[in-house]
Order: sequence, then structure tokens, then C-alpha cells
Amino acid sequence: MTETGADIQDTDRVIDTTRPHPARVYDWYLGGKDNYPVDEELGRRIAAIDGGSAPKAARANRAFMRRATRALAAGPGIRQFLDIGTGIPTEPNLHQIAQSVVPDARVVYVDNDPIVLAHASALLRGTPQGVTEYVQADARDPHTILEQAARVLDFGRPVALSLIALLHFVADEDGAHDLVRTLVEALAPGSALVLSTMTADFEPENVRKGIAAYAAGGVTLVARSHAEVGAFFDGLGLLEPGIVPVSRWRPEEPPAGDGPVSLYGGVALKP
Ligand SMILES: C[S@@+](CC[C@H](N)C(=O)[O-])C[C@H]1O[C@@H](n2cnc3c(N)ncnc32)[C@H](O)[C@@H]1O
Repeated sequence: MTETGADIQDTDRVIDTTRPHPARVYDWYLGGKDNYPVDEELGRRIAAIDGGSAPKAARANRAFMRRATRALAAGPGIRQFLDIGTGIPTEPNLHQIAQSVVPDARVVYVDNDPIVLAHASALLRGTPQGVTEYVQADARDPHTILEQAARVLDFGRPVALSLIALLHFVADEDGAHDLVRTLVEALAPGSALVLSTMTADFEPENVRKGIAAYAAGGVTLVARSHAEVGAFFDGLGLLEPGIVPVSRWRPEEPPAGDGPVSLYGGVALKP
């Protein structure tokens, strides 16, 4: 899937270094090296607005991914994972967490950014018993994702679908709810939804300025209230502690510094 690529347009492979990209700005927040001056510039502008809470939120979000993935692999014993909006590889990646619990776990990663495709080989080094694959696709095209993922995942069995720090890049009018509904409908009972997304509930002024800075860089960002995030989980059974700032979802270590984390996270099972 990764490089079969006949169906991947050339434009999907072009790394545009003239404007910031969400995956690369996030990489900068995490201290990665796979970003460009234009990404660092936006990252620094956001950090100047919010006093450094965006890098802290990125680290807290990554830790949420690790805890949620481990909980699903260990608890309900889910062996299949579909991670959409994967980001630039950052160790440990989701498949490494899942396969450390379930060595034969099958994992499909999806992102629409060419920089993630360029680094996808790091996502494909898993256990010999398991499978990892990468699909270059847009979350707003869930039918294509499901079709491609079905080459690796058995949708007749439980799958953990993760949409982690993805949906704030997709406005409601751009199909955020439709894509979640379509993906969740395709999942078997016992499957899970892991989701985190930005909120302005705690730091409204900083988040408003951050959204404006991203918009100036040509990137759409959407903040959602607790109730709006809850709507993504309609029909699903939320696991404890429900929808909370990602740093408060079953924390294992003390929070990194004071202050709120402006990302809600939650994990739910499909009945
Ligand atoms: C903030 S990063 C999150 C990475 C990872 N999920 C994590 O939480 O650590 C968001 C990712 O979503 C991807 N993304 C944004 N919009 C997307 C879309 N419409 N389709 C697929 N991926 C998208 C970006 O390219 C980026 O890699």
C-alpha cells in the first residue's frame, strides 16, 4: 500500500516548504527534526502567544495516545488498529505500543501529508508476528480509507480506530461528523474509538489567537466544547473517566507543569 502508489497523485508527494503544515509544526512542538523554518516560525509564534502550552499539550497528547492504545490492547484485547492522522513518526509509535502488548497486532496508519509518507518506513518496522501498513489518504474520504485498510484489517472483528489530534483540522462543515459516523459504522461490536481534539474551554483567548495564527498560515483549526466533542461519541460507551483534558485521561505520571491542556480526549467502545 505504501508505495504501490499508482493511485497516489504526484501532488500528494510534494513537500511544500513555503507554508506551515500541521504534521511538521506538531513535530517541532515534540522536538523533532522533520520540520522546516516555516513550521518552526508558526510554532514559535504560537508558543509566544500561549507561553509554551502548545508543546506541553503536544507531549500530553502523545502520552494519551500511548496510554489509550495500551489500555485497549491489554483490556478488551483489541488486536487491530486503524490510526488516522498519524503524524511524523515519533518513538514510540502506536504500533510499537500495541505490539508490545499484543505481538501479532495489525496496524494501519493513515495521513494525507506527503512528509508523513516520506517517513512512513519508520512506521512499517513492527514485530515479525504483526503487520503494519501505511495508507496515504484524506480523512475526509473515509470510504477510500476503509477500502484500503480492509486489505490488512478484518472489519468483522474489533478494531481500535484512533483519531488523535486530527479533528481540529476538519471543520464540521467540512465533514468532521460524517467521517466519524462513516468510520464507526464500519466497525464491529467491541471496537473502540480513541479521539482527542482541541478545545477553547480552558484558555479561550490564547486558543482564539492560536487559531488566527494558524489561519494566517493557511491552516484551518477548530476548537470544540465538551458537548461538541461528546457528539463524536454518540451511540458509543465511554470508558472512565469520560471526556477529559488528555493529561487527565488515566494519568500515570504527574502532569508536565501547571496550567490547562487545551485538548479533550476520550475512549469509547462500540456496543
Ligand atoms: C497534530 S498531528 C497528530 C499526530 C498523531 N495523531 C498524534 O496525536 O501524535 C495531526 C496529523 O493529522 C494529519 N491530518 C490533518 N488533516 C488530515 C486529513 N484531512 N486527512 C488525513 N490526515 C490529516 C496531519 O497531517 C498530521 O499528521
